[in-house]
Amino acid sequence: MTECSINFVSCFLSLLHYDDVMNFYQIFKTLAFKLDPEVAHEYTLKALENFKQVSKWSFPPIHTSLKKYSLKSGLLKWNFPVGIAAGLDKDARVIDFFHHLKVGGLEIGTVTPKAQQGNPKPRIWRYPEQMSLRNAMGFPNEGSSRILENLKKSSHSHLCLGVNIGKNKETSVEKTAAEYASLYETFHAYANYVAINISSPNTTGLREFQEAKALSAILQAIDKKETPILVKIAPDLSENQISEIVKVCFDNKADGIIATNTTKIESMGPGGVSGRLLTEKSFKVQEQVLSLTKGEENFSFIGVGGFENFEQVKAYWKMGGRLLQIYTSFVYQGPQFFYQVKKEIDKALIQYQCNYLEELITLPEFLKKS
Ligand SMILES: Cc1cc2nc3c(=O)[nH]c(=O)nc-3n(C[C@H](O)[C@H](O)[C@H](O)COP(=O)(O)O)c2cc1C
Repeated sequence: MTECSINFVSCFLSLLHYDDVMNFYQIFKTLAFKLDPEVAHEYTLKALENFKQVSKWSFPPIHTSLKKYSLKSGLLKWNFPVGIAAGLDKDARVIDFFHHLKVGGLEIGTVTPKAQQGNPKPRIWRYPEQMSLRNAMGFPNEGSSRILENLKKSSHSHLCLGVNIGKNKETSVEKTAAEYASLYETFHAYANYVAINISSPNTTGLREFQEAKALSAILQAIDKKETPILVKIAPDLSENQISEIVKVCFDNKADGIIATNTTKIESMGPGGVSGRLLTEKSFKVQEQVLSLTKGEENFSFIGVGGFENFEQVKAYWKMGGRLLQIYTSFVYQGPQFFYQVKKEIDKALIQYQCNYLEELITLPEFLKKS
């Protein structure tokens, strides 16, 4: 594309309204859904990398306020309550775009020490009728050095930036704790938090590190600095296991929990399922963690798993959650999910005569009305 045509497209797109943005994403989706999911994902990232200006005009910032929509959970403060979950920008390639969009948080990764290919393709499947995805990626990524370089080149002052870390496929059980410690060492100075991913179903044996002794070993191996450590857990845990994990986090001074990763549904095939088919399971785990950590002022919590509308976001706030992430709804709805949440918050702020979201979500009359 010539510079002149880019300018023309950019000017045209800058005239678009939010509803047009929605239509624009729907058109884009119709084309993208004709492709294999991973190919579509790669083209999208390439388009966001190479046509930065066009992408920015196509999708205007969700909001322009630093305070109106901000929420806190423990040590984390986001300028908008919804962020992007791990796995979407594995290699920190499009931080600038999400920074421009002003999502609350972006979790890059999962990053492993060495670059790796991940599992054989195909490894992402769509289930449009159930608004769900299944993936068996196995942490394909460019490795920590390259990703750190990408991170250093990006701007993210409006974003809460998380770095999600994991082990390489061939790393032995004995060496795993040291690997997490070294990744924390590499990234802590460039992130607002580091997420210990021990819950992906696509790396053999990874979920076993959710067991108390193994998780303690990882947390104890880390030479913790100021950057908070959050532990990302699976939805396929018993109540006892969840209680144990929370206790291990408290005992070892972890700063928070992210719940949840994808769920295993054997009848659907290998990998982990996300989106609507995960919502209920994930919500139950979130509910239990929130109730076990209630009153712990400095303990952060990020809810993730099947959020697809504002009613669910409200239900999450009602339960005591504050910050949340999406992945699958970003595939099915695009930035529209964020615009919609913002629009609903604005409506409620007027209706209940509040200036700030922080105030609004403490009002029982707002939370009870659906
Ligand atoms: C294609 C794909 C890749 C993912 N990769 C990662 C990953 O690398 N690390 C991670 O912690 N979670 C990963 N996830 C899980 C998401 O971060 C999120 O926890 C999960 O999808 C539930 O949220 P959702 O229902 O909004 O998608 C991935 C999910 C999908 C769909």
